[in-house]
Amino acid sequence: MRVTAILLAAGQGTRMKSKLLKVLHPVCGKPMLAYALAVSSSVSTGKPVVIVGKDGGPLRAFLGNAAQCVLQDPPLGTGHAVRQAEASLRGKTDLVLVSYADMPLLRPETLARLVETQKKNTGPISMLTVIAADPRGFGRVIRSPDGRVQAIVEEAAATPEQLSIRELNVGAYCFSADWLWQALGRIALSKKGEYYLTDTVALAVDAGLPVQALVCDDLTESIGINTRVHLAEAEAVMRARINRAHMLAGVTIVNPDATYIDPDVTIGPDTVIWPNTYLHGKTVIGTGCCIGPNTIAEDTIIGDDCAVLAAVMEKAVVEDNVSIGPFARLRKGAHLCKGVHMGNFGEVKDTTLGPGTKMGHFSYLGNASIGPDVNIGAGTITCNYDGVHKNPTVIGEGAFIGSDTMLVAPVKVGAHARTGAGAVVTKDVEADTLVVGVPARPVRKINTPSQ
Ligand code: UD1
Ligand code: CA
Repeated sequence: MRVTAILLAAGQGTRMKSKLLKVLHPVCGKPMLAYALAVSSSVSTGKPVVIVGKDGGPLRAFLGNAAQCVLQDPPLGTGHAVRQAEASLRGKTDLVLVSYADMPLLRPETLARLVETQKKNTGPISMLTVIAADPRGFGRVIRSPDGRVQAIVEEAAATPEQLSIRELNVGAYCFSADWLWQALGRIALSKKGEYYLTDTVALAVDAGLPVQALVCDDLTESIGINTRVHLAEAEAVMRARINRAHMLAGVTIVNPDATYIDPDVTIGPDTVIWPNTYLHGKTVIGTGCCIGPNTIAEDTIIGDDCAVLAAVMEKAVVEDNVSIGPFARLRKGAHLCKGVHMGNFGEVKDTTLGPGTKMGHFSYLGNASIGPDVNIGAGTITCNYDGVHKNPTVIGEGAFIGSDTMLVAPVKVGAHARTGAGAVVTKDVEADTLVVGVPARPVRKINTPSQ
C-alpha cells in the first residue's frame, strides 16, 4: 500500500515571537523540523510532502531534496493546508498520513502503528490521541456513550462540559486518500475563519463511517511546540531520551540533567561523561574516555581512553590515550595524535601534535606541524600571523622547546633541536642544535639526541 506523509509547516508560529520560523528553532541542536521529517520519512513510501507558507524560503532551503514542498498561501487552517497537496497526490497514494511539523517528539514506531491501525480500519480515518491531565489547548476527543469517536472539538469552540474531557487530539492522522480529498472540500469555515482538518472526523461519523483512535501511552510524544515554554519542555524530554539511550548502551552519565548531547553524537561504552558537558553536532567519542566536567565539543572526534577536563573543542581530532585540560581550547584543524598531553591554558588551531608530544602549560600553537615526542615548554607561542598571512611552523621529532619561546613563523626547528628559555626564533634551527637569545642564535650541537 502506498503511504504518503504530509507535514504541515505553513503556520506562522507567531506565539514564538521570533524572526526565525518556528519549525527551524533547534531542539538539542537540530531544527525541530528535522525530527518531524525523519519520522514522516520513516512511514512514507514516497517522498514526504511539506506544506510551507509564503515566507517558507529558509524552510525550503533546509529541506532541499528531502521533501516535496507545496505552498499554502494564505494559511487558512490545517484542513486547507492538507488540501494544497491534493493536486500532486491525487491517485498516487492509498493512505495519507498527516502530522504537524511542530511535534518533534513523536516516535516513528507510533506513526507506524497509526498506519497499521488505518490499514485494518473499514472507515476513512485513524487518529492519535492521548489522555492528559493538562489539556494544553489541544482539541478534545468527543466519544459516544458506547465509546465510539464522534468528533474533535477545538478548545476555542468547546462547551464547558467538553473542556473537561481529558482525551486530546495529538495531531497525527492516517486517512484513506480518496475519501480525504472529497472530505476536505466539505469542511465548513470555522468562527476563526479557518478550515480545521479536525472537522473531517465529524464528517466521517455523519456518513456512518467509523473513526479509529489509537491512544498513545507516552504523553511526551504529544508535546507540540507553540511557545518558547513548550520549546524548553521539548528540549528537556529529548535530552532525557538521548541520554537514556547512551546509558543503556553502556555510557555512564553522572548527572543526566546536566549533560547536553545532540542526537547525532556517538559515544563508546565505558566512557564516563561528567556534568556540564555539551556534545554537539557529529561529535564521536570512543570507549573508556572520561569527558568533563565542564567540557564543550562540537563536531569533534575523540579516540579511546582519553581524558578531557574543562575543555572547549571544535572540529578537532583527538587520537587514543590523549589527556587534555583543564582549561584547554582546540580549534578547527587541531589534531592530537596518540598519547599527547595538552595541559592547562593551551590553544591549538590548524596544528598537528605528533604522538607522545607534551604541551603542558600556557601555549598557543597555530598553523603548525609538531613531530612526535616533542616537549613544548610553558608559554611557547607560534607567532603565526604577520598581519596579512598565516605562516607555518614545523618542529621535528624529539625537539625541546624551552619555556617562553616565540616561534616567529614561517620557521622550522629541526629534529632533537633545543631552544633556550625566552628564545625568539626568527630563523630556521638545524637538527640537533641548541639556540638561545633574542633573536635566537645557535650555541652548539647537541651530542646525544636520542634517549
Ligand atoms: C492543532 C489541532 C488540535 C490539536 C493540536 C495538537 C487543528 C485545527 N487543531 O491545534 O486539535 O490538539 O494541533 O498540537 O488542526 N498549519 C499550516 N497551515 C495553517 C495552519 C496551521 O500549515 O493554515 C500548520 C502549523 O504550521 C503547525 C500545524 O499546522 O505545524 C498545527 O497548527 P497550529 O496552529 O499549531 O495548531 P494548534 O492550535 O496547535
Ligand atoms: Ca501546534
